[in-house]
Amino acid sequence: MNTITAAITAVGAYVPDFVLSNKVLETLVDTNDEWITTRTGIKERRILKDDTKGTSFLAIKAAENLIAKNNINPAEIDLVLLGTTTPDMPVAATAVYVASQIGAVNAFAYDLQAACSSFLYGMSTAAAYIESGRYKKILLIGADKMSSIIDYTDRATCIIFGDGAGAVLFEPNHEGLGFQDEFLRSDGVGREFLKIEAGGSLLPASKETVENKQHYVFQDGKTVFKYAVSGMADVSEKIMQRNNLTKEDVNWLVAHQANKRIIDATANRMGLDESKVLVNIQKYGNTTSATLPLLLNDFEKQFKKGDNLIFAAFGGGFTWGSIYMKWAYDKQ
Ligand code: UT7
Repeated sequence: MNTITAAITAVGAYVPDFVLSNKVLETLVDTNDEWITTRTGIKERRILKDDTKGTSFLAIKAAENLIAKNNINPAEIDLVLLGTTTPDMPVAATAVYVASQIGAVNAFAYDLQAACSSFLYGMSTAAAYIESGRYKKILLIGADKMSSIIDYTDRATCIIFGDGAGAVLFEPNHEGLGFQDEFLRSDGVGREFLKIEAGGSLLPASKETVENKQHYVFQDGKTVFKYAVSGMADVSEKIMQRNNLTKEDVNWLVAHQANKRIIDATANRMGLDESKVLVNIQKYGNTTSATLPLLLNDFEKQFKKGDNLIFAAFGGGFTWGSIYMKWAYDKQ
């Protein structure tokens, strides 16, 4: 076959050591382990405790993990793409610093921001560059230090999010494996329901915005939940239909880990058996841009060459979509 497809050929990840359990959250806000577990599926999340370190620290660790595990020469990487909602700084793309720190000296680099869909959209971008024949090695990282934008007195958000990072390498494939199809959506209605109000051009930082706590994530959970359930299920069903995939054909659902009930609703619509649905939300919570690569890293050994993977995500904006990919390697 002459056509180039874009395949994931390596995976890496990093989560910080500090574990924030539901039990500890019970001491911070009016909540309890039973409520969090049944409503979200989350038991604990990881937090980067060091105030001197930002998202770049997590991203570098994940990239270094991928490089070391797979014996990659970082000088051969053409592009470092970082999906993140929590860049180190508003100006000076975090990806550029990450690329330099990992020795990707011949790469260009930039950040991609689409809230919880950043990594999914990044997969689309990376795949398009590879399929065009223009670049041969693209490192896509999803990393977020969500604890830097969470108000730990707000029970509507602090129980959900965690810090983490994951990375994948995209390379050309000549066997038809890797990226097959995508269905990506967005709708600006979402920005009222999930946002950080201040710190951007619309409402620059001021004494008042700090006092009003407008630099933290605000979420109207119930509304976002409704959009997320229908959005993620719709696009996942759509991509199956468009590619004539039956529930038997799908080997794995790799879905954004925001709420176990949203993942279950998507799997139900697709008719998938529970054993095909990847879940690690209980360990990490919602790590925003890192959920998909953290799943790939945790379950990599179970994937077989040729397996059909459906990726799905939903995030602020709103942004959402699904990607169909054929896995390209067996892990020894
Ligand atoms: O990743 C980006 C996209 N984000 C998402 O997909 C998140 C979508 N939203 C959600 O996952 C859910 O809406 C939440 C987990 C945020 C909230 O779950 P919910 O089932 O929608 O709860 P709710 O907001 O409808 O609240 C139900 C009840 C309320 O009490 P009443 O009014 O029924 O007496 C809340 O006050 O639960 C109460 N509640 C809590 N109780 C204990 C809300 N938050 C908590 C809490 N602990 N942390």
